[in-house]
Amino acid sequence: MQPVTLTRYLVEEQRAGRIGAELRQTISVVMRACTSISVAVSKGALGGVLGEAGTGNVQGEAQKKLDVISNDILLEANAWGGHLAACASEEMDHAVPVPDEYPKGDFLLLFDPLDGSSNIDVNVSVGTIFSVLRCPEGHRETPTDADFLQPGRQQVAAGYCIYGPQTMLVLTIGHGTHGFTLDREQGVFVLTQRDMRIPASTQEFAVNMSNQRHWEPQMQAYVGDLLAGKEGARGKDFNMRWIASMVADVHRILTRGGIFIYPWDRKDPDKAGKLRLMYEANPMGLLVEQAGGLASTGRARILDLQPEHLHQRVPVFLGSKDEVEAAEAYHAKTG
Ligand code: AHG
Ligand code: MN
Ligand code: MN
Ligand code: MN
Repeated sequence: MQPVTLTRYLVEEQRAGRIGAELRQTISVVMRACTSISVAVSKGALGGVLGEAGTGNVQGEAQKKLDVISNDILLEANAWGGHLAACASEEMDHAVPVPDEYPKGDFLLLFDPLDGSSNIDVNVSVGTIFSVLRCPEGHRETPTDADFLQPGRQQVAAGYCIYGPQTMLVLTIGHGTHGFTLDREQGVFVLTQRDMRIPASTQEFAVNMSNQRHWEPQMQAYVGDLLAGKEGARGKDFNMRWIASMVADVHRILTRGGIFIYPWDRKDPDKAGKLRLMYEANPMGLLVEQAGGLASTGRARILDLQPEHLHQRVPVFLGSKDEVEAAEAYHAKTG
């Protein structure tokens, strides 16, 4: 039996009427861009792609060379994708319309071109996160930032590509979450994890514990009870992992369960946490919910949020359903 490649999966989904040709082709464009990024990432020092770019981004972050290289690869794909009206990136202040000389389409593409940048120079898994929305009717020729401000539930596709020991692309088009592994010899992504499911309960959490003293009391109480183990209120022991590449932590959770947390902390009180709603929380939230998990700010479901601006940040609790609900219960307590 021939392996099911990502291309074949998308054609079968189109034949089944679950996506149109335009969305299929848009995802194929992203797939090819991620393959190019994977090649660049894997060269490391040999490709001169490590280290700082010497520039900063709208997030106030120093950019790595691979942040810029990955962003450029995806920007180019935006042009010749053929079915896009515009794209928006974590690395760019504003949305970028498809250049006039190219055909326009009905989709908006958003991406975090290189997630986990702090891990690039130490050879730890990094990734690309992407999200696809429909362009509002009649705005295809003149798309603006405001056209992107749609709740995460309106995403028509979301996914990530993780550049690790294997390069894997994990995708949802609203009918489950599926994993594809890059066969470098053939140059194709092969379906290796159909219908990924997150176990409802877990004994593993992911958070950067060094921020503990900056958390609000409800978060401190919740994690304090995780650390108290079976002698504590939760009655069971917990393990901890923190890779500091959201793509890698979320991939582990999609594979074996867990809860991933980046909460609000008072280090930057006017920001609602570190992670970006449009480029990280919404796409990861859709992938996780399509795999039976939950994605929350601790007090509201992420996919229901009405975005206020393109680079909005949100607190993130996502993963095993029962554990996210347990965290929400701690945050429901006042005072
Ligand atoms: P990016 O590299 O795209 O800026 O995102 C990094 C994010 C996310 O990938 C990860 O979970 C988090 O930053 C790690 O934050 P800390 O370094 O504060 O732990
Ligand atoms: Mn960054
Ligand atoms: Mn990121
Ligand atoms: Mn990034």
